[in-house]
Amino acid sequence: MYIFKSKAKINKTKLNKVCLQKSNRLTGNVTMPGDKSISQRSLIIGLISLGKTVIKDILDSQDVYHTLKAVESLGAKIKINRDHVEIRGVGIGNLISPKQPIYMGNSGTGTRLLLGLVAGSNALVTFYGDESLSNRPMDRVIEPLEQMGASVVYSKSKKLPITVTGARARGITMPINYKLSIPSAQIKSAILLAALSARGKTYITEYKKTRNYTEKMLAERGACLKVNNTKNGKSSISIEGASHLKSKNIKIPGDPSSAVFLAVAAIITKNSSITIENVLLDRFRLNVFKILQKMGANIKITKVNTDTCKIEVKSSKLNNIIIKSDKSASLIDEYPILSVAAACGQGKMMMEGLEELRFKESDRFSAIVKGLSKTGVQTDSFKNNILIKGCKNIKGGCIIDAKNDHRIAMAFNILSLVSEKPIIVKGNHSILTSFPNFFNTLNILGVSSSNYA
Ligand code: S3P
Repeated sequence: MYIFKSKAKINKTKLNKVCLQKSNRLTGNVTMPGDKSISQRSLIIGLISLGKTVIKDILDSQDVYHTLKAVESLGAKIKINRDHVEIRGVGIGNLISPKQPIYMGNSGTGTRLLLGLVAGSNALVTFYGDESLSNRPMDRVIEPLEQMGASVVYSKSKKLPITVTGARARGITMPINYKLSIPSAQIKSAILLAALSARGKTYITEYKKTRNYTEKMLAERGACLKVNNTKNGKSSISIEGASHLKSKNIKIPGDPSSAVFLAVAAIITKNSSITIENVLLDRFRLNVFKILQKMGANIKITKVNTDTCKIEVKSSKLNNIIIKSDKSASLIDEYPILSVAAACGQGKMMMEGLEELRFKESDRFSAIVKGLSKTGVQTDSFKNNILIKGCKNIKGGCIIDAKNDHRIAMAFNILSLVSEKPIIVKGNHSILTSFPNFFNTLNILGVSSSNYA
């Protein structure tokens, strides 16, 4: 099913019946698999680079698989080897129009970035996705891409399925000056990828910093891209249309957003001590560990090389805090597991400025509030803020529907490690999108799971 044949035997029915048992302790060392954001970008940028790109340690997950298949149908030649993937690109703007619509599964990142790439090309492509992806807003990328000259066909809801005819097929790609009213690396990346084929300079202004891998990877491959960071998190990015990108091999560091599920599991389970190796060394993405440290978690981060660090975590008493909205862009994928940490902490946790949580793989805002309440944790919300009252004994003994959302599924499975009665998560298969080895890794650390009927 996934990129490497060894993982082909994942049994979804069995996975959907896994339930984590109350745990005594977590111990041991584990190595994180590749970062999802960088894995997807390495394929997408490989598609428009000249020559061969060798990708090592790519994340072997469903989202990455759908991006790989999409990139292949847009013209890339891909060879899958035991320990690396080779991709031969087609150059900027020269994509192939596939005969069939492209299925993107659950992947918002893959879809939005490829919408941008196709928008600047000469191709005509239809994208569609699973139920969760078909419910996510796409107007946020359609609007700037139409300004750049792409023709986009969509229904009233402006959601998938969407058909794009690239601006190059209709004339030229127009450079734009775009202010990002939503802090989103996906929107920013879609514009940057389209801008590569434009005549002239495109400007993007960000008011809150978001992950910057598209900028970094394009600049490393020869794109003329400048970033000017000013005060208060504001930054201006300029990118010039390019004739070509050089290919560059890449080794992908492990995913901090997956690592934090293991870290919180160890923090909330007594007598635990674990080491998580090969985690991407990126201050922005490691912010969640800083927040946990601020709450009192015993976490030690050690730089191993320029790209990775190791994270040692021990069980700890947590004190809940207020997390202001200026942190929300760096924690956007981490609120579900931070909420679980808060449920086990002392006092009240206030998380502010969570409007974007409503537009993820599910409405995570209501999934957190309703899900935690169901497990017996006092949780409240007002406007875009969530308030969680830490609880000594979490009852559990309930079913949580993950609604195709991997991070909701993983978060509530972790809460089951400390709840009085197990929490059954409906839809564990969603975890395959980002962390297929989630349960195996927890088993290695000493967690027991059972199968319910
Ligand atoms: C991602 C950006 C974030 C994040 C997602 C991955 C990316 O989304 O939630 O999981 O790789 O660019 P937004 O950019 O929409 O906030």
